[in-house]
Amino acid sequence: MISKIGLKLTASYILVIVVATLILGLLFAGTARRFLFEEKQRELVHKGEQLGQTVIDFFNGEMPISTVEKILEVTGQHLEAKIMVLDPMGRRLAVTPGLGRRGAQLSRADFARVISGETIVRRGYDPILELDAIFVGTPVHTKHGQITGAVFLIAPLTVMGGLISGLWRLGAFAALIGVAFALLLALYLSRTISAPILKLKAAAAAMAQGNFKVRVPSGSDEIGALATAFNLMAAELGKVEKLRKQLSADLAHELRAPLTIIQGQTEALLDGVIEEEAEKEKFLRDILGETVRLSEMVRALLEIAHLDRGAKALNKQVFSLKTLIVTLAGKYQAIAQEKNINLTTILPPTDDLLLVEADEARIGQVVRNFLDNALRYTPPGKEVLIRLQAQDTSVQIEITDHGPGIPAAEQPLIWERFYKVNKARTAGEGGVGLGLAIAKEIIQASGGQIWVKSAEGKGATFGFSLPRTSPPAPLT
Ligand SMILES: Nc1ncnc2c1ncn2[C@@H]1O[C@H](COP(=O)(O)OP(=O)(O)OP(=O)(O)O)[C@@H](O)[C@H]1O
Ligand SMILES: [Mg+2]
Repeated sequence: MISKIGLKLTASYILVIVVATLILGLLFAGTARRFLFEEKQRELVHKGEQLGQTVIDFFNGEMPISTVEKILEVTGQHLEAKIMVLDPMGRRLAVTPGLGRRGAQLSRADFARVISGETIVRRGYDPILELDAIFVGTPVHTKHGQITGAVFLIAPLTVMGGLISGLWRLGAFAALIGVAFALLLALYLSRTISAPILKLKAAAAAMAQGNFKVRVPSGSDEIGALATAFNLMAAELGKVEKLRKQLSADLAHELRAPLTIIQGQTEALLDGVIEEEAEKEKFLRDILGETVRLSEMVRALLEIAHLDRGAKALNKQVFSLKTLIVTLAGKYQAIAQEKNINLTTILPPTDDLLLVEADEARIGQVVRNFLDNALRYTPPGKEVLIRLQAQDTSVQIEITDHGPGIPAAEQPLIWERFYKVNKARTAGEGGVGLGLAIAKEIIQASGGQIWVKSAEGKGATFGFSLPRTSPPAPLT
């Protein structure tokens, strides 16, 4: 089967072949014609001179007229030409059969030129034969150089026309073979071009139906590159789809846990099973706690949805990261002391304010989440360290704790929404698993970098960096 592309290609090939054959044919036929005519003229002149030598015998009376006529007849047949031999007075001595009285139409001018020693060669319409012909006239010379007569030969061009049409037929045959090849080529191209495109089309249709597992065979040409890009797209969309499903599942799960507690505690209270005031209050506090957790979660989700809009969601301004860190460290001192954790801050030994251009509230949120996590996972009696460092083009902050750390395999995953290391371990520890996902979005939208360095059991260091800004020019 030839595809539509195949058909278009075939049509183009055939057009090219036909045009090329025509041009070649015309050029070739023209050249061949010229060559054939010139050959014929040479032959006629040569034969004319030969005949002149032969008829000298006749002029000398050594050959009968019948022999001359015989010679003319044979030569005329061989040359496919009409021949006339004239004496110096212009009388016709002998002519080839079939010329009849027409020889009388020979022009006086032509005869005069030949009898004066000139050889005439002319091509075109001939009034004697009344068709296109080559006309040749040669003088007959005696041994002593005197002119004793003239030989005229007229060969019609139709003979050569046949040869040329033969050439055209040959050209047409070659073109036909070319067309057959074009068809074969189109069939082959249909297979190599159209088939992969049709496969891509089918795969795209399957993907539209929600099948992200489809892949198409890739290759090294442009269509192959398209297939590779398609496969990449399918893989990425597949990942996004998986993440989306995972997120809905996680969200449902996260919502269910607090709701179950709220429902259970409320039912218990309504049933009147609990009589002690202290226990009732504990139940109510649990309900309140879970409600707070739920609203926390909704707030975080809204925040993520907002951040999904990228840098546009940020309210950027120039501020001192140093001041921000010092303020936050002060606020967290109380919580750290309560947990008996030693919270230390190390600042660079310069007066530099370490200015950055970012959304101050959001950056504060990232630091808070780092500190929340560090204080949450660090056991009492240990230390949490905040270190602010200035580089040439950026400012970086790292928060190191002495908690359980994060296994290397899970380090890339903690930035995903709802991901929690060892859910059993962290269950009941309050976190929803959105803090780091939000932090990553904020830092990336601010043009910075975020990272974690950790080994299981050896604590963790979370950090980020932001591009430095030079202070605004002072007002003069
Ligand atoms: N300093 C740390 N030490 C050990 N594990 C950590 C640390 N920080 C984060 N993690 C792990 O990474 C997970 C994801 O952290 P993230 O801050 O995103 O969520 P969370 O703290 O559980 O909840 P949220 O911050 O949304 O209240 C945590 O649940 C925890 O398992
Ligand atoms: Mg957190």
